[in-house]
Amino acid sequence: MAASQKPLDQVVHERRATQEFDSKPIPDADLKQILEAGRHAPSGYNLQPWRFIVVRDPEQRKALRGAAFNQPKVENASAVIVAVAALKAWQEGDLDKVAALSKEHGFTDQQVEGMKKSVTGALGGEPGDICGWGPDWAVWGNRQTMIAFTHMMLEAESLGYDTAPMEGMMESQVKKVLGIPTDNQKFRVVAMLAIGHKKGEDKPFAGRFPLEYNFFDNKWGNGIKL
Ligand SMILES: Cc1cc2nc3c(=O)[nH]c(=O)nc-3n(C[C@H](O)[C@H](O)[C@H](O)COP(=O)(O)O)c2cc1C
Repeated sequence: MAASQKPLDQVVHERRATQEFDSKPIPDADLKQILEAGRHAPSGYNLQPWRFIVVRDPEQRKALRGAAFNQPKVENASAVIVAVAALKAWQEGDLDKVAALSKEHGFTDQQVEGMKKSVTGALGGEPGDICGWGPDWAVWGNRQTMIAFTHMMLEAESLGYDTAPMEGMMESQVKKVLGIPTDNQKFRVVAMLAIGHKKGEDKPFAGRFPLEYNFFDNKWGNGIKL
């Protein structure tokens, strides 16, 4: 396991969305540590409704760049991780797999059956307000997948890598390049994460809104003051 180079707080404050990378390959051990951080991310009912495609092959990255508004970092990063939300995987086997996994890890039969009932109740019922997913599975899938994505981004930065999150892409083209099933009811491309070492200097920090502008205290609109 690679030694962590930067503490989380430093990563959070110093990370920038890198524009240009030096193209050097990433060692497998580091890549594995980054992916493991995604694997350990939390998700609703532990359903892990995501799939990630690690794109390192130069030809594939070239093609992916074409699907991503020709952004050079897609080709120049050491690896690009494409995040896909697997919206119906829980109905197609993953719920049973999650149940088996929980049992292996010490959950009782009763706990596991309770979890399965909750999942089918919350996610399998009529579209509504429950869990905030309404009829919009893409919202649900994005919610889960971006946490795993962010785990990987922060882990990579902590290992001393630079990263660039990207939404600038044509989803249907990304699907075509990577062979992702075209059915948008089942799979949605959420975002892409470029990882590598930056070439030159990052853009300056563009600043953020003050805390009280979009963080509220107890009630909507009541800007928090700490
Ligand atoms: C979900 C997401 C999608 C983004 N998509 C792109 C993109 O396609 N191309 C790009 O150059 N930057 C992209 N960015 C980077 C943002 O522009 C950048 O994070 C923001 O300007 C703040 O800069 P900082 O991350 O350096 O603090 C994206 C960031 C996020 C979080």
